[in-house]
Amino acid sequence: MKTAITEMFGIKHPIIQGGMHYVGFAELASAVSNAGGLGIITGLTQRTPELLAKEIARCREMTDKPFGVNLTFLPAFTAPPYPEYIAAIREGGIKVVETAGRSPEQYMPALKAAGIKVIHKCTSVRHSLKAEQIGCDAVSVDGFECGGHPGEDDMPNMILLPRAAEELKIPFVASGGMADARSLVAALAMGAAGMNMGTRFIATKEAPVHDNVKKALVAASELDTRLVMRALRNTERVLKNKAVDRLMEIEREKGAGLKIADIHDQVAGAYPKVMIDGDLDAGAWSCGMVVGLIKDVPTVKELIDRIMADAELIIRERLIGFLDGTGPAQPARVA
Ligand SMILES: Cc1cc2nc3c(=O)[nH]c(=O)nc-3n(C[C@H](O)[C@H](O)[C@H](O)COP(=O)(O)O)c2cc1C
Repeated sequence: MKTAITEMFGIKHPIIQGGMHYVGFAELASAVSNAGGLGIITGLTQRTPELLAKEIARCREMTDKPFGVNLTFLPAFTAPPYPEYIAAIREGGIKVVETAGRSPEQYMPALKAAGIKVIHKCTSVRHSLKAEQIGCDAVSVDGFECGGHPGEDDMPNMILLPRAAEELKIPFVASGGMADARSLVAALAMGAAGMNMGTRFIATKEAPVHDNVKKALVAASELDTRLVMRALRNTERVLKNKAVDRLMEIEREKGAGLKIADIHDQVAGAYPKVMIDGDLDAGAWSCGMVVGLIKDVPTVKELIDRIMADAELIIRERLIGFLDGTGPAQPARVA
């Protein structure tokens, strides 16, 4: 399948693995790139630029295919040294950066001077247009369904994607709620040139996270995510657990007066405890509604091959069947 995104990033399939804190290590990024997608290392999971340089080198040993690095600009007590992270990315020969959170405007000259393509992940048409205007090469349009930070507009992809298609000149991928061939074909139908998946890629053999996390994703339904930190305008979609129940209790008590310090115990330092130690209740951790569509833990290659084979079945049999009046008796297999 050839789209503006496969051409732009030099990849075989229009599938990107979004940056994920304590998940996006070299093991997952290289597996996605080796399977023909675009794997992404999560920059800030590496505590220093030097460690990021090492992770890039480690990934380079695991794949000769293109892979990218995610740089997230979220509110933090102390801002990470972004220029040094960008230097590590440049010196590591990385040609694609996924930015997210606040606008990457300030860092665009440094990224562009290094010949890096920038795909900015954002949750609204206006932020997508801003990304286009400041010189981003593509956008990852992240709907309300997504795991992580869905923004404050609550706009699901069924509306957001066609709106993005109406306004944007640069290519975009659909992000949030993407799990399988149905997601990919629907995203293409709505004007996207590919898809970005987060949660689905955690439930793969190569994702370097504790088995408890993968089991929890297979067991959860689409009803099991919650939105937290709304009052802080830093909304995050997370998997419901004991810590999230407590966090929401505190949110109810404090109302609009909630401060980040009030929920420190439920959010700070949760990721390594969950992802590495498998302590699922250690705190709030991101998870998309798409968890309701995750039924197995395949290898990344099995997942991507299945998506591409099923996409072909949906397009050639189901959709063309409707046009020809020979629609399949059974819906196309879309596991
Ligand atoms: C556990 C987890 C951690 C994430 N961490 C980050 C992150 O550090 N930076 C970022 O830009 N996005 C992060 N995301 C968002 C993903 O990159 C992606 O945009 C999102 O998961 C897409 O929605 P989906 O989960 O429905 O596929 C995270 C998502 C998950 C599930």
